[in-house]
Amino acid sequence: MAFLTLLTLALLTPGLAFDLGQTTRCVPIPPQMSVCQDVGYGEMRLPNFLGHSSLEREVVPRSEDWRPLLQTGCHPQAATFLCSLLAPVCLDTFIQPCRSLCVAVRDSCAPVLACQGRVWPEALDCDRFPAQEDMCLSPIAKHVSHLSKGLPKPACQSCPVVEEFPSLKKVLDALCHSDFAIKVKLLRRRAPLGQPEFEVEGRVEFVRQGPLLPYATRNLLQQWLLINLSCARSLAPPGRAQLYLLTGRVRPDGTLALTRLFPWHKKDAHIALATRKWKQHKC
Ligand SMILES: *[C@@H]1O[C@H](CO)[C@@H](O)[C@H](O)[C@H]1NC(C)=O
Repeated sequence: MAFLTLLTLALLTPGLAFDLGQTTRCVPIPPQMSVCQDVGYGEMRLPNFLGHSSLEREVVPRSEDWRPLLQTGCHPQAATFLCSLLAPVCLDTFIQPCRSLCVAVRDSCAPVLACQGRVWPEALDCDRFPAQEDMCLSPIAKHVSHLSKGLPKPACQSCPVVEEFPSLKKVLDALCHSDFAIKVKLLRRRAPLGQPEFEVEGRVEFVRQGPLLPYATRNLLQQWLLINLSCARSLAPPGRAQLYLLTGRVRPDGTLALTRLFPWHKKDAHIALATRKWKQHKC
């Protein structure tokens, strides 16, 4: 009976690199495989659904390839999806991601991946996964994702302009022509050790709050910072955090567009003055 089920599954998924009829074994998810530590189970199938059979040479390094994408938080179930292929749960049957889960993750994450200079890989072609919603991992209920509907989302963009020692007028203009302005510290870690290399350090402070929510803004900027890593590299110096006044807009589609960053040096009087004056200023 079990054999028949496996055979059927194998026939239904002709494109999968992995032959569902082949013998597999169950091994503990290695601790070095940090992207799949929070999946909610401890044992995985080997070979996995991507056809990797060596933990050290394939599974762990390939899972690391996905870390820059996962750190952006591009989709709440991105890790669940990727880990269901990299470290499939060890149950009596093979549990693949449903096509609908793949499509949901791909639609949110492929643009971020493109921003990082990579394409959505052939091995994750959503047509390879079962269209029927039974016996596969499906996306979480729609109402949950509705919660985050109205919130601004980070997106791929060209790196915002950085202006050193701006004039008072320049800063006032930037404040007038943006939806929000935030005082923020950006940091590049010397030894990331599993954390993101770039970080929004400490609290963020609003000069102009606009449509942003106080509790969500630090995380929003953090995600934005991790989308374009070469931009992050140019903004965040290693070791010591750089303070900025950052201005931006929320586009009609809800995505964030950062427009200007003014490095806020201690001796710079213009930025401090502008942040105090702009409300009285005739924009
Ligand atoms: C990412 O930032 C780099 C460097 O600042 C910039 O040249 C590049 O255009 C940005 N990438 C995208 C896709 O906008």
